[in-house]
Amino acid sequence: MTDLLVRLYDLPEFEAEAKVRAAGVVVRRALAPERQIVLDWVAGHFSAGWRSEGAVAFGHLPVTIWIAVRNGEMLGFACHDATAKGFFGPTGVDEAMRGQGIGEALLIATLKGMREAGYSYAVIGGVGPIEFYRRRLEVFEIPGSTPGIYGGMLRPKAKSE
Ligand SMILES: CC(C)(COP(=O)(O)OP(=O)(O)OC[C@H]1O[C@@H](n2cnc3c(N)ncnc32)[C@H](O)[C@@H]1OP(=O)(O)O)[C@@H](O)C(=O)NCCC(=O)NCCS
Repeated sequence: MTDLLVRLYDLPEFEAEAKVRAAGVVVRRALAPERQIVLDWVAGHFSAGWRSEGAVAFGHLPVTIWIAVRNGEMLGFACHDATAKGFFGPTGVDEAMRGQGIGEALLIATLKGMREAGYSYAVIGGVGPIEFYRRRLEVFEIPGSTPGIYGGMLRPKAKSE
């Protein structure tokens, strides 16, 4: 797990935006009234930790969490400014819906949101699948960023009873 640096001022064109739109998937900033539904989805599909980061993203106005939706069903999400200012993530797509461009469409929508918020660079924090980011973006691994800000973080333990 390392952090990546991405330039926001010359983001490339992404094919995924049009591709997912044509498939009826809407990628948009979440609305405050959707907070409970979105956070429950994040916890159910991913983790309590990501739910907590999503809750911080809902604490900003405008909120800093984007969602992918089709026919009233949530398919994925992406956040920024959840654990640190200028950080992209976490992000995730429903396992059954991966490989269709939804992750990329969420990534570009959120990075554009960061640019509009005034950032020139984004840090993609604690990256798992580096290749996903390298596919479309020129990313730079930040030396010494493992374990980065997540070092020493409390993690859930199994109950002893
Ligand atoms: C990473 C994730 C969000 C990608 O979502 P997705 O909707 O499957 O991604 P896309 O369909 O937009 O993929 C875009 C491109 O990246 C590639 N890609 C997607 N996930 C990848 C991965 N884990 N490793 C390498 N390449 C990946 C795709 O093959 C595609 O390339 P192509 O267009 O050349 O075929 C999704 O796999 C996920 O939710 N993973 C679990 C959570 C996670 O790891 N989040 C990131 C934390 S840093």
